[in-house]
Order: sequence, then structure tokens, then C-alpha cells
Amino acid sequence: MKKPFDLHADYQPESFEFNKTFKKAVKEAIARYPKGRQQSAVMPLLDLTQRQVAEEGAKQHPPYGGWVPRAAMDHIAEVLGMHKVKVYEVASFYSMYNTAPVGKYLVQCCTTTPCWLRGSDKIVEATKKHLGIGMGETTDDGKFSLMEVECLGACVNAPMVQINDDYYEDLTPQNMMEVLDNLSQDMQATVGSQTGRRDSMPSSDPTTMKDRAKKAKVV
Ligand code: FES
Repeated sequence: MKKPFDLHADYQPESFEFNKTFKKAVKEAIARYPKGRQQSAVMPLLDLTQRQVAEEGAKQHPPYGGWVPRAAMDHIAEVLGMHKVKVYEVASFYSMYNTAPVGKYLVQCCTTTPCWLRGSDKIVEATKKHLGIGMGETTDDGKFSLMEVECLGACVNAPMVQINDDYYEDLTPQNMMEVLDNLSQDMQATVGSQTGRRDSMPSSDPTTMKDRAKKAKVV
């Protein structure tokens, strides 16, 4: 996963087309922009590509996750009437687009300062050990890929990871293993705080607005 952006690698498929369901979503995404500004839909179209590839990949053996093949970028350029290189630039700039194959579950570990101060090193080490892979690698069964990312904006419940579209917060090496074990059996893991903390409230009792917290039944 996250192999160097290689437009000519042997994992690149020959062609790409949006399927019926995604064609509808593509049309809707383009229609959101004013006439003559349709190229602004490049980001939603890259995202839809990744989602279609993920859906198809999840049914394969070994499974794989969402990524954006070069053929899809070429197709998007054609649909939006823009130069191919402009689509390559967007896809290769933003970290949310995977420009090479990834596992069915892409584990993005935040290691920026707040997560690091709250123990992200231990989460990363435990995850590597549990999955038997290093950063930038994919498990042999195609289920998991691991990557390191910068702050994902959930510092209040650090340490955290993002797996596909979901955030898993208040992690310990133990509850992280439970999340991975559930996903390895394609079972839904508990999303959000793993300690039951509601939103970003203090990990102990509320320290302010206690009456309101009581009224809202969060204590
Ligand atoms: S530092 Fe990890 S979410 Fe912000």
C-alpha cells in the first residue's frame, strides 16, 4: 500500500468505468457545481472511484480496499474535460486518496503530538505486532494495511486511529486489539470512544455545567 505513485506499475488495471450506481452519484456530484465549473467535481469523483473500487475489492479473494487506479483518473479527466495531469496532481497531493492498492481495512495511525503524548507509540507497536506488518505494508490475506498520518482532528480523545471511514478513540493496546480482531472477522467494531466517553467530555465526571450534564443524562 501507499507504494510510490507509479502510473505504469503492473497493479494498474487497463481500464475503469463507473458502474450503474456510481454513475448516478457522479452525475449528482457534477450537477452541484455551476455551469462551466464542473472540473470542481474532481475531488468527489476521485472519492467515488475509491468507494467503488473498495466495494468491488471487498468481494474478491484476497480482498482489497479503496484506491484510485490511473485508468480511473484518465476516465475522470475525460468526464470533466480536463487534462489528465491535473487529475493526477489532485490524487497524488491529498493523503485521503490512495494511488496504489491497499488492504480492505486501511488503518491510519495518528502519531502527532497530542496522540503521541497519550501513548500512540504503544498503539502503533501493538498494531504492528498483532498484524505482523510494518508501516506502509499490507497483510498477506489482504485484510489490513497500516499507515502513519498526521493529526486527524480528534485530539481530545487521543490516542486514535482512523480505519476506512471510522474513528476509533481513547485507545489502549488492549482495546485496539479488540477492534482489529472484530474487523478481521468482518464484524463491526465499536466506533468512537473505546472507553464509552461521550463526545469529547472529560474522561472523569464533568467539571463544569454539572446540572446540565445531569439533565442531559450523560452522568
Ligand atoms: S493529534 Fe491525533 S487526532 Fe490530533
